[in-house]
Parts: sequence; structure tokens; C-alpha cells
Amino acid sequence: MKIIHLSDCHFIDPAPAGQATTGPSPQQTLQRIIADICQWHSDAGLCIISGDLTHDGTPTQYDLFARTIADLPMPVHVIPGNHDARAPLLAALPKPRQDKNGFINHAFTHNGIRFVLLDTLIEGEDTGILCEKRLAWLSSELAASQNLPVMIFMHHPPVTVGLPFMDSINLQNADDFGDVIAAHGAVKHIFFGHLHRPLHGIWHDIPFTCGPSSYTGQPLAMQPGSGLPDKAWLEPGYGIALINEHDASVCYHFETVPNLAT
Ligand SMILES: [Fe+2]
Repeated sequence: MKIIHLSDCHFIDPAPAGQATTGPSPQQTLQRIIADICQWHSDAGLCIISGDLTHDGTPTQYDLFARTIADLPMPVHVIPGNHDARAPLLAALPKPRQDKNGFINHAFTHNGIRFVLLDTLIEGEDTGILCEKRLAWLSSELAASQNLPVMIFMHHPPVTVGLPFMDSINLQNADDFGDVIAAHGAVKHIFFGHLHRPLHGIWHDIPFTCGPSSYTGQPLAMQPGSGLPDKAWLEPGYGIALINEHDASVCYHFETVPNLAT
């Protein structure tokens, strides 16, 4: 099966009428990506967007985002990132799902694979967490997964990746998360966003993949300090995950679209 992975769309308010913009907007880059998806990957079974749908979490930004992703030809599932806010997200998007505690955690089965989508948001903060309630929800979901292979999607990485600033704002309690998934053994892959750079690795014997940002990818910033190196930014991108229903193997392709001036 084919899955589309979008992340870090960072929608901003539209520029006031008559005001010049200096480059492509997050909306324009996502529109280019959606056009690419419609041309080449309309056969994908679903699309998962792993957070930072908007930059400031305002109703205006969510309304623009909802209208833009309506052009995707497959079912779409979203989870929040650190730039999001739950109430306006839930108000704007057509089918957000919540757990009994109000977190945007949800799970579903598609072609024999269990997809578990986690809400790691701490509103107003850049770091993420899976609090006791969210870990309890995850534990019960994994216990109820009926031995189906599980793919987890979340915003914050549970692993340090050698990017000092981003490592300082990743998932706070990765060890607790690791303990829960190790207790069940069904998790085959973890997908996340947040980094604005695609990468792969293995954590607790589980492969992980960070998807690119649909807006822009940051230069590789492996040196300590807050500044970004003077290097080219990555083009807007998205992921195409091919998941084998029989053995849950994953092949993940990155695709980009030109970051052309408007
Ligand atoms: Fe982001």
C-alpha cells in the first residue's frame, strides 16, 4: 500500500491585499506538493500529516489549511505539532478524532496495518510529551491491536539526532514512550516530523523516519548555538511510504517540488 506523509506545513496568515511577499508562502508550496501528489500518487490510500499544520495556531490559518488540503484525493489524518493549538484545529478540520481525554490521539486499521497517531503537543511550548494519560491510551491501543503490525506517527522525535537545538525541543519523556512500545512489541516503524529535514535511523530496534517539511527544509545545523549555517535550504518536500501488508516492511521515498519565487 502507498501512504503519503506530509509534515510541518506552517501555514501563516495571508498577506494583506496589495502587500508584496518576498517568496513562496507555505500555502503555495503545499499547493505545489498537492498538485504533484494528484499527478503522480493519486493511488495512495491515505495521507497522514504529522503536525505543525499552522505556524501560529489561529482560526484563520486553520481555515486556509483546511481549504488547501481539501484538494487531496485520499482520506487525510492529522495530528498536532508544537506550533498548533487543539481547539481551532478541531474547529476547522472536517474529521479530527480525539481520545476520551481530548487529545488528538487516534488509531485505525488500513489494509491489515494498524496506524496509531499520537498527540505530543504541550500547548505554548516547543518540546513535546506523552503524559501519563496519553501513554495509558497508547498502551491500551497497542494491547487491543490484535497482533496487527503497528505504524506510529507523531510530531516530536523520541530520539536525539545530532541537531543541538532540535534535540533540545524533542519528546521530553522518550524513555517512558520506549518502555510502553517495548512492552507490546507490535510497533514496526515510527514516523515523525518537527526537524524539517528528512532522515532515517533505528531507536530501540525500531526503524524511524523523519519526513520533510512541505514548506521549507532547514540547513544542517549540527554545531552548538542558535544560528543556522549559511547553507542552502532544502526544497519543500513530502514522503511516499510503501508499506507491505504481509510483512510490514517499509520503503520510504522523499520527493521535492521546486521552491520557485512567486
Ligand atoms: Fe515545524
